[in-house]
Amino acid sequence: MSTWAVLAAAGRGERLGGDRPKAFMGLGERVLLAESLERLEASGWIDAIVVVVPEEWEEPAILLAEELNAGKVSSAVAGGASRADSVRAGVAEIPDDALIALVHDAARPILPEEVIGRVLGGLGEDWDGVVAGLPLADTVKRVDPHGRVAETVDRAGLYAIQTPQAFPVATLRDALLRGGDASDCAGLVEAAGGRIRVIEGDPRLVKITTTADLAFVETLLANE
Ligand code: CTP
Ligand code: MG
Repeated sequence: MSTWAVLAAAGRGERLGGDRPKAFMGLGERVLLAESLERLEASGWIDAIVVVVPEEWEEPAILLAEELNAGKVSSAVAGGASRADSVRAGVAEIPDDALIALVHDAARPILPEEVIGRVLGGLGEDWDGVVAGLPLADTVKRVDPHGRVAETVDRAGLYAIQTPQAFPVATLRDALLRGGDASDCAGLVEAAGGRIRVIEGDPRLVKITTTADLAFVETLLANE
């Protein structure tokens, strides 16, 4: 049985607004991509890793893997216009005999080993996928473009969904083949009729979107 990680790092990072793709922006002393890559490499759950980066960034990604002694990295491939396109390109690199795919966003640098274990441990016959998530703590309102509240949404049962997300490779391949758009992989599997389970994520899995997030994650890393 083998478990492959797909590290989605092919976004442009427009909201961060740097001079290079988000995954190659600095985080502390090194590039953002190094953090999650190193954690996947060190994980006892992961056998091999595919890194998906923007076109022309494959070579820097391989050099980074070498620098980190990340021998599990099997390839670095170019992603596509949407996150789903990028994951599709990554999953295409997974051999047919692999059983499980764990997809993770490089934009979430702090990837705790316990969460990888919970997500993979949560898979079983009854489920087509497992995602990390946290129940929403804040009050939730739907707001129109002018800043006016349209409604207060009942928070019961609402979760913020993170990565990592794990699937049987065949299930994820099928869902990606159907096409369609979703902001996460589970959304594609759901659209194909799949049963997705949510397990406890981790507040440290924050996604870096803006420069404020970058600074926040730097302080989390400094205090680890
Ligand atoms: N991603 C990807 N391929 C894309 C778009 C996104 O691999 N075409 C990845 C990003 O690299 C990131 C994760 O999906 O790790 C979540 O995306 P997001 O946070 O939106 O990152 P960006 O798309 O890079 O940022 P922005 O939307 O601000 O441009
Ligand atoms: Mg994006």
